[in-house]
Amino acid sequence: ELGSFTHFMEKEIFEQPQALENAMRGRFSDDESTAKFGGLNLDAREWRQIDRIVFCGCGTAWHACLVAEYLIERYARIPVEVEYASEFRYRNAPLDKNALFFVVSQSGETIDTLEALREAQRKGFRVLGITNGVGATIARESDGGVYQHSGPEIGVASTKAFTAQLLISGMLSLYLGRMRDLSFGDGREMVQAFKSVPGLVSQILDQADKIKAIAERYADHQDFLFLGRQSMFPIALEGALKLKEISYIHAEGYPAAEMKHGPIALISEQCPSVVLSPHGDTLQKVLSNIAETRARKGRVIAITSAGKDFPETAADDIIRIPSAHSCVMPILATIPLQLLAYHIACKRGCDVDKPRNLAKSVTVE
Ligand code: F6R
Repeated sequence: ELGSFTHFMEKEIFEQPQALENAMRGRFSDDESTAKFGGLNLDAREWRQIDRIVFCGCGTAWHACLVAEYLIERYARIPVEVEYASEFRYRNAPLDKNALFFVVSQSGETIDTLEALREAQRKGFRVLGITNGVGATIARESDGGVYQHSGPEIGVASTKAFTAQLLISGMLSLYLGRMRDLSFGDGREMVQAFKSVPGLVSQILDQADKIKAIAERYADHQDFLFLGRQSMFPIALEGALKLKEISYIHAEGYPAAEMKHGPIALISEQCPSVVLSPHGDTLQKVLSNIAETRARKGRVIAITSAGKDFPETAADDIIRIPSAHSCVMPILATIPLQLLAYHIACKRGCDVDKPRNLAKSVTVE
């Protein structure tokens, strides 16, 4: 089943162009200006009445929820809240009466996410699911939802299921945006951007050998920081989680500008940083965060889509990803982080597909 791959995680990383294609199939309107979903079970009038969306999930799925918050607030202008499912179910939060819930779960079996769904339904809210496991409990109990169609994910560390969740979140932001203020032209640009994703992901995967070489040079460190701003902040959290899970290296994700409020104290030649710094509004600010890190002898691996705005000398190692619409940049930035974590873990001799202490689906509290 592994074919030419060494681990399922590696195979699943390389399956992403296909998995992303599958998540989009049949989900754009005929005029290609919006997305469509068969199973949400709300009509346009009901959607118009929603004035807040709450996303719940755990682990990697929670990171996908954070990206959904950025995308939906930006393109659809609907306020979004993100909750850890395990916290939400005991918190008894006051909720807006016109709120809608989304629960996100690759397996569709995570007990905390399932109980969050039940708690929201008990209070009378409508709950939609974004799930991969076909026929899973969350898919059956929710009031509607979206299947990811990522195919089985066997590696314990989630890869292709995460990027499909990001894609579906982006497509939801387009769908909801087009019911509000997003123009036909802006919608078409987003559709084109989503359709280009499988090809762009393949281009990044073509750099796997280069990323492996960088990973192996950093594999001896015991601490890492992952930094990013705006929609790159959840991707930084995900990069740190991937590295922790499979290589047992201590890693933390932060919004880049938070460094000076504490974490900069960790910087030394022993603690490298992976900085997500694509083109965009905050690039210049992130470049100065990088300079501050390097002034304290911290090595920096930068992941950027910016051309000459990101000079070759600005970081110790640079991984260049294609420049694309901002609605798909979180997906593109994720790929190098998966490969970095994977190759660092392999270099350290870790059991990548079955990391210690972890189970693929967490069905106990
Ligand atoms: C990370 C990972 C976990 C899961 C989390 C939620 O690589 O695998 O953090 O993302 O346990 O699992 P699902 O999405 O199945 O609810």
